[in-house]
Amino acid sequence: MLRTHTCGELAKEDVNKEAVLCGWVAARRDHGKIIFVDLRDRYGITQIVFLPKPDKETYEKAKKIRNEDVLKIKGAVGLRPKNTENPNIATGLVEVCAKDLEVISSACDLPFSVDDSTEASEEVRFTHRYLDLRRDKIRNNFILRHKLNQEFRNFLNQEGFLEIETPFLTKSTPEGARDYLVPSRLSPNKFYALPQSPQLFKQILMVGGMDKYYQIARCFRDEDLRKDRQPEFTQLDMEMSFIDQEDIISLIERMMAGVFSKALGVEIKTPFERISHKQAIEKYNSDKPDIGSGQYRFAWVLDFPLFEFNPEEKSWQMCHHPFTSPHPEDMQFLDSDLSKVRAKAYDLVLNGQELGSGSIRIHDIGLQQKIFSILGISETEAETKFGFLLRAFKHGAPVHGGIAFGLDRLYAIISGSESIREVIAFPKTQRGVCPLSDAPSYVSEKQLKELNLKLSEPEQTGK
Ligand code: AMO
Repeated sequence: MLRTHTCGELAKEDVNKEAVLCGWVAARRDHGKIIFVDLRDRYGITQIVFLPKPDKETYEKAKKIRNEDVLKIKGAVGLRPKNTENPNIATGLVEVCAKDLEVISSACDLPFSVDDSTEASEEVRFTHRYLDLRRDKIRNNFILRHKLNQEFRNFLNQEGFLEIETPFLTKSTPEGARDYLVPSRLSPNKFYALPQSPQLFKQILMVGGMDKYYQIARCFRDEDLRKDRQPEFTQLDMEMSFIDQEDIISLIERMMAGVFSKALGVEIKTPFERISHKQAIEKYNSDKPDIGSGQYRFAWVLDFPLFEFNPEEKSWQMCHHPFTSPHPEDMQFLDSDLSKVRAKAYDLVLNGQELGSGSIRIHDIGLQQKIFSILGISETEAETKFGFLLRAFKHGAPVHGGIAFGLDRLYAIISGSESIREVIAFPKTQRGVCPLSDAPSYVSEKQLKELNLKLSEPEQTGK
């Protein structure tokens, strides 16, 4: 290790010890005969003192350092003089009197000040996200994200779930958005689709007998972006076999209560309020009503209609995805009045935002084919798009169901962030651009040729 301590840990007990610290210069105050530097790393800030005696050379070097330079400092830990203590930081009783200073790397002029009061635009902050990540507020979002991810994993592991990864290079998964397509070099003229969700694969895992699955899964959707939508985002995705709606609801309530208590020390009230989709629309004119009381206002929206009529296309569409089971009491209406068929689907709403969505699935191949035909999906189209799922159903499918939560949305709410972009390390702007890497970008003619692709504007290629 280059350092003996982090910048967040020296305390009274360390007085008279020698310490080596590494970090970024958060601030430098030159009082002529004494220079103070606040040295910062992920763990905190330690005050470093430079004096002309006994080591003039180190003091002279300290005169030249600038904000955000990276330093390695060796020195003795001392108590701060009376009345100069800083109760706002964990190391506020002590300081390190430097006797050796190495500038590991120096920083050029900064595009914005690295503190929580910065007024830089999102565009500038995301272009220099490495600077943005050094700010307390942003760093804390990722510490929180990590902590909550761990608690979700702990809970689900204890409940006997298996964490299983599903493919990114796959076929289209219908979740209502456009697909991101990836051309295949080895199969000319063919494309993979990046998953809009792991939906089909998690159902196949159930057919494969995995029983309880979860994944912190990246999903990709080409849709218009808003402050609660990104083209790639993260779901806590789950699926279980031999369960019913109530099992999922009670598991999720226990999970949320347990994770909030452990990670945040916040006790949330369970069971969550429930409201039918019909009541939600009648009373709140919204399928994600802000109801309940307190901390966090969780509510279930139940009994969604299975279908909705699209007047433009003059056809019936699914409210959720086409693998959602009709309510058993409403099966009769599949042949007579589709508007009366409720879904065995449930949404979890938090503070008026849709946090998660799930359903009991169709596991009967005959019923699945019937739903496809109601949706106007021909047998050939069903075979081309979902043949692999239908084939799996022919080989013994359990009753199964699940749910997926938008973790970015959850963490934005918990951290009090304006947008989910604040809890995503390298987010895209409203126009789907990554200002840091400048993706998407042109590709070379060679790459296009290898992929058997031709552009309609051929001059728009990279080198
Ligand atoms: P759904 O499409 O409702 O369900 O997605 C589940 C949750 O994912 C979050 N979400 C998003 N978050 C950020 N940016 C986006 N573009 C975005 N799109 C969705 C939301 C949403 O509630 N396969 C089903 C789940 C299931 O049935 O098990 C699914 O993906 O918080």
